Amino acid sequence: MLVLGIETTCDETAAAVVERQDDGSGRILSNIVHSQTDEHARFGGVVPEIAARAHVDLLDGIVAQAMMEANIGFAQLSAVAAAAGPGLIGGVIVGLTTAKAIAMVHETPLIAVNHLEAHALTPRLTDALDFPYCLFLASGGHTQIVAVVGVGHYERLGTTVDDAMGEAFDKVAKMLSLPYPGGPAVERSAAEGDPERFAFPRPMLGRPDANFSLSGLKTAVRNEASRLMPFEPEDVSDLCASFQAAVLESTADRLSVGLRLFNDRFGPPRALVAAGGVAANRALRVALQDVATKAQTSLIIPPPALCTDNGAMIAWAGAERLALGLTDTMDAPPRARWRLDANAAAPAGYANTRAGF
Ligand code: KG4
Ligand code: ZN
Repeated sequence: MLVLGIETTCDETAAAVVERQDDGSGRILSNIVHSQTDEHARFGGVVPEIAARAHVDLLDGIVAQAMMEANIGFAQLSAVAAAAGPGLIGGVIVGLTTAKAIAMVHETPLIAVNHLEAHALTPRLTDALDFPYCLFLASGGHTQIVAVVGVGHYERLGTTVDDAMGEAFDKVAKMLSLPYPGGPAVERSAAEGDPERFAFPRPMLGRPDANFSLSGLKTAVRNEASRLMPFEPEDVSDLCASFQAAVLESTADRLSVGLRLFNDRFGPPRALVAAGGVAANRALRVALQDVATKAQTSLIIPPPALCTDNGAMIAWAGAERLALGLTDTMDAPPRARWRLDANAAAPAGYANTRAGF
């Protein structure tokens, strides 16, 4: 099975070809990612309109490159998959429309993939992981704990009630005049700071649900930063270190609750899986390892290139769905919002635009 995957939901323009064997194993034949970071850097965040235009400019060339590197022609494709949401709607439209055109011209099935489902299924490509497992997804747009029970069978155990975790890192970086994207800059600065200098709140600590909240913490950092201005040299690194320490402690608490909820519903998970850009944070990885060990499970973090947005994860999710006969029709809608657990296994062409975040 050969599937072309297209990803355009945020600021990465990406296409990839993945091969799936009958035994369920997979192989990446090509994986081309163009990150638009430079286009957005001077705005300190992703500008949806700029992203959509860049996808229009770049996508055809990236698809051609992915096909060339995989050394296959369109006629050999078993299907074409595109991320149909959730994400910035302009970009989603560009990717999904391109996939529909390819499907139509080359008479190959279309698969409208939920971007979150693609993150969720990635460890089955990289580590041949069996169901069920617990996913912690933390990126610029999402912060969720998801029980991955089977293809199309997901249960969201927790989510952020306000900002996404990567977004909080980016906002803290911006208020401290650190470069975009903020996560890596905050992590670097934190490594030199004192995590105990500021006693920032640990949001949601001890709550029985597994939800996250980051905006109060972000505001606490902002208030402290305005109080300190103008900064002494160590102020920025101490603010970063104290912010990151609060994020880590809160995350560890939320995940241990999430894993307990998982266990109650589905039995022991095969692994705790982390994905999304924030999973690149080394201090977070250490904290996650600790959480996994305490919950007597193993920690799997796919390689960074497959943790952040890419086309291979979309192609792979497409292949997993195709193997179950789950294809979509040409009226599959682009969706800004699309809850993973609402209807990921929906029948072909199913449209539910009122699904939440
Ligand atoms: O998954 P991703 O590449 O793109 C999407 O948001 O979909 O995630 C990017 C996010 C950004 O908010 C970035 O600041 C954050 O991940 N990030 C990090 C680190 N590296 C990237 N956050 C904390 N520590 C890091 N080392
Ligand atoms: Zn993503």
